[in-house]
Amino acid sequence: MDKKILHGDGVIIGTGTIYGQSVCIFAQDFTVAGGSLGLMHARKITKIMDHALKMRVPLIGINDSGGARIQEGVNSLAGYGEIFFRNTLSSGVIPQISVILGPCAGGAVYSPALTDFVFVVDKISKMFITGPEVIKTVLGEEISMDDLGGAKVHSEISGNAHFYAESELECFEQIKKLMTYLPWSNDQKAKRYETREPDQKYKIDEIVPDDPRQPYDVRDVIKAVADDSEFFEIQEYWAANIVIGFARVNGESCGFVCNQPLVLAGVLDVDSADKAARFIRFCDAFNIPVITFVDIPGYLPGVEQEHSGVIRHGAKVLYAYSEATVPKMTVILRKAYGGGYIAMSSRHLRADFVFAWPGAEIAVMGPEGAANIIFRKEITESGNPEETRKQKVKEYKQKFANPYVAAARGYVDSVIEPSETRKLLIHAIEVASKKSTSMPKKKHGVPPF
Ligand code: HXC
Repeated sequence: MDKKILHGDGVIIGTGTIYGQSVCIFAQDFTVAGGSLGLMHARKITKIMDHALKMRVPLIGINDSGGARIQEGVNSLAGYGEIFFRNTLSSGVIPQISVILGPCAGGAVYSPALTDFVFVVDKISKMFITGPEVIKTVLGEEISMDDLGGAKVHSEISGNAHFYAESELECFEQIKKLMTYLPWSNDQKAKRYETREPDQKYKIDEIVPDDPRQPYDVRDVIKAVADDSEFFEIQEYWAANIVIGFARVNGESCGFVCNQPLVLAGVLDVDSADKAARFIRFCDAFNIPVITFVDIPGYLPGVEQEHSGVIRHGAKVLYAYSEATVPKMTVILRKAYGGGYIAMSSRHLRADFVFAWPGAEIAVMGPEGAANIIFRKEITESGNPEETRKQKVKEYKQKFANPYVAAARGYVDSVIEPSETRKLLIHAIEVASKKSTSMPKKKHGVPPF
């Protein structure tokens, strides 16, 4: 056998600490047979995976590999299968983190895809199932590794990566930062930090414009309620019409899921639904309360979305919120229309606390569209259709597009001033942390994967 392959078999494994707490780690060595995965290489990885699960500590994998070691044939494939099986067993028990620091080809991509967070670095990370050579042979197309599966591609287009860094050093800082928000396993809570007030420069009363067509950056609302105004965003560059990430409220790590009116008016679509649903499930698995900020005109209409399965993907959000038993706090900032109202952690999906700001509009659809449908006859038959239409829109707004109808039914617990949001979230998290819920007995559900 090739002597180089015997040298550590292309991977090192071990344990270490992050901020004083133990973690398990493996790192592939591209200088040995391109970090390719043979049976012994796989056994080293599965050994540290078993250790991490047994010790209930996070697993970090540094991936730098040409995929299945071709010379070892089916043994390499068997090795991957053993890894994927363990990734799945550990899912929801210990946090699993993948760092892509080189090529990650063929079978090498699927272990990261089964883990919770994937980190990529500009110009270094490359992930693909079939490389440029194969594509050229089979399809006759020339493409560079970066254009096929570089760090930007996976951060902006495919959504496979969760964190993008310009350098390895930045990437390592991101990993350490992420760890501060996570518990070490599903039987713990994330470490609690000292509470800190948000930065006064985020004036929560002034962020959301009254005009429902005016955009704003929902991250400013998050920063206005978060300790130290610190928000650690996940998948920042992909499906940016929804914002997800961690922030602390009163020292407690919370997951935020927020419509982003700056992008596509904050609609839910195929990708943003996937992004939100997976994150909600992560938070639920690891005892992290979920805070939802709602400002949504609905699901994105159109042939492209329908044909891409917006029904199937959108259903994931309904499933994830309904299934989650962690404290769920919802604040309706402005629009909450149609399916978007239901999907974004509504009372009906068992949010524990639902607050609405006074300018919130909760309705089946926006006033313009609704008035055109239900008052069409009156509008067209009137002497001045445009004036009648305006009048009907106004009537509709007064009657339906406000938070008070929902509050009167108990779907909204309180209509609150924006300035009260942080105080009430702190209270809600405290109360909901003591909640006890039970689900019907089942092996597992069948989510619309
Ligand atoms: C054995 C491999 C290897 C592999 C690379 N090497 N990939 N050896 N099995 N899969 C070796 C090379 O022979 C070379 O050895 C050394 O690693 C460095 O490779 P280079 O090609 O010189 O490096 P570079 O130009 O940087 O290109 C890196 C690469 C390329 C992009 C990863 O090597 C490549 O395309 N490899 C094949 C990728 C691939 O198609 N993998 C899929 C395998 S099938 P020497 O001795 O010359 O230094 C698979 C299916 C599993 O994974 C499915 C499970 C679900």
